[in-house]
Amino acid sequence: MIESLRAFGYSLETAIADLIDNSITAGAKNVWLSFNWNGESSTISIKDDGCGMNEEKLVNSMRAGSKNPLEDRDPADLGRFGLGLKTASFSQCRKLTVGSKKKYDKVSIRSWDLDYVNKCGEWRLLNVETNYSGSLFSSLEGMESGTIVLWEQIDRLVKGTNKANPKYENVFYEQIDSVKSHLAMVFHRFLESGENFKIYVNGWPLKPWDPFLRNHPATQQLPKEPLYIFGKKVVVQPYILPHRSKMNDETYDLADGLGGWNRRQGFYIYRNNRIIVTGDWLGLGFRKEDHTKLARISVDIPNSLDNEWKIDVKKSTAKPPTQLREDFKRLARLTIEKATLVYRHRGKASIRKTTEDFVFPWETKSIHEKYFYSINRKHPLVDDVLKNAGDQKGKISAMLRLIEETIPVPLITLNSSEKPDNLPVPFEHVPSEELISVVKEIWDSLKRAGLSTVDAKNRLLNMEPFCDYPEHISSFIEKQKGE
Ligand SMILES: Nc1ncnc2c1ncn2[C@@H]1O[C@H](COP(=O)(O)OP(=O)(O)OP(=O)(O)O)[C@@H](O)[C@H]1O
Ligand SMILES: [Mg+2]
Repeated sequence: MIESLRAFGYSLETAIADLIDNSITAGAKNVWLSFNWNGESSTISIKDDGCGMNEEKLVNSMRAGSKNPLEDRDPADLGRFGLGLKTASFSQCRKLTVGSKKKYDKVSIRSWDLDYVNKCGEWRLLNVETNYSGSLFSSLEGMESGTIVLWEQIDRLVKGTNKANPKYENVFYEQIDSVKSHLAMVFHRFLESGENFKIYVNGWPLKPWDPFLRNHPATQQLPKEPLYIFGKKVVVQPYILPHRSKMNDETYDLADGLGGWNRRQGFYIYRNNRIIVTGDWLGLGFRKEDHTKLARISVDIPNSLDNEWKIDVKKSTAKPPTQLREDFKRLARLTIEKATLVYRHRGKASIRKTTEDFVFPWETKSIHEKYFYSINRKHPLVDDVLKNAGDQKGKISAMLRLIEETIPVPLITLNSSEKPDNLPVPFEHVPSEELISVVKEIWDSLKRAGLSTVDAKNRLLNMEPFCDYPEHISSFIEKQKGE
């Protein structure tokens, strides 16, 4: 069985990421990853300053299946199966040693040596002296709490190598580069938190890699959309990356990540802020074409939906639940359409990255797994109308309520699922005067609420559906200034 545990299909990158998951779940602020080249005796160690484990917990954690996957986990827990520490480690090495120290407790160390287990034919977990591996484990003594995972006999990486041959050494160090790129991507949100979390690789701090180039002025951010399944929220945020002409060579090369621009398109699934899927169209029928390569979409899922998303032990695959597939297809299609326009140089910078939230006229609420659609009372126009309605307020509220309660959801669902391509975009094929007459009313409401011209313009550009008509908004505002 222990040999079978080696065959989960981890790569070096995904195996190390799985161990860092454990460090993050343990509340670590720092993770020190160390690759030590020594031919066939090379080692890899991961040390963290998380909460650590006492002896009993360490012994339990060394067991395969140390936790029940069906158990509810803390919303920030990156684990699920009680396997990762063992399966990730054995995928790369034949000897796994873990030392740990809980606050106010002593250091405990345990080790699995696959050759020893094979030889004695029993699951004998070794109790190890604190001075094992020189000063590595004794460095825990000086820490309040923390954990060190040491991989020895990393046969998958260095078997048959010769320490004196620089060719092998180069291959070893090339692997470190690809581990660094993978970790910089997978944990970029944690690394962006500044002083709160750092990963050091052989002493060097890792810089985060943002798949969406959110800090680039030409990146377009489409409206964020919350979706619900079993009353739990999944948030989808599409981005269109800038046209090649808007990026310098360095940014272009950087955004290419590990696999190249083409491979990097698609959905990025974040589970508790940690990326598990890195650019994939999730089997929804889209292909990775050159003209769609600027489309990247972030999806945030909670760990309470692991089963529905079919999360695997390696935390490297996820499949959208059937109930969300149509929404995902719709959002992918929309993003791909806009990304193609930018790729063909026809894309307007419809929406700039902004700190303001988007304003939607409609809101979706989920109560006891049932969905309700309501008109956003905080929408500037609705808010203004209600505030200034005087004795009509009751009537207007009743009218809104009537619309909300009777909105023909089943009919809309039926019609749109039959011909999703025929769904009109708001104000599509409508004379621009009609669009502007609606914009004008909202503009007046915003001004009445005391917003400056600049703020009111930004608000309109962050409002569905006007975010899709930036040139109309701009010319409307120019006219207002002239008057
Ligand atoms: N670096 C660490 N610091 C503190 N506790 C740890 C650390 N690594 C592992 N543990 C403990 O060991 C347990 C087993 O870890 P393991 O990675 O095998 O499973 P898991 O994280 O629970 O689930 P998964 O299989 O999804 O990773 C964890 O649940 C945690 O309690
Ligand atoms: Mg784990």
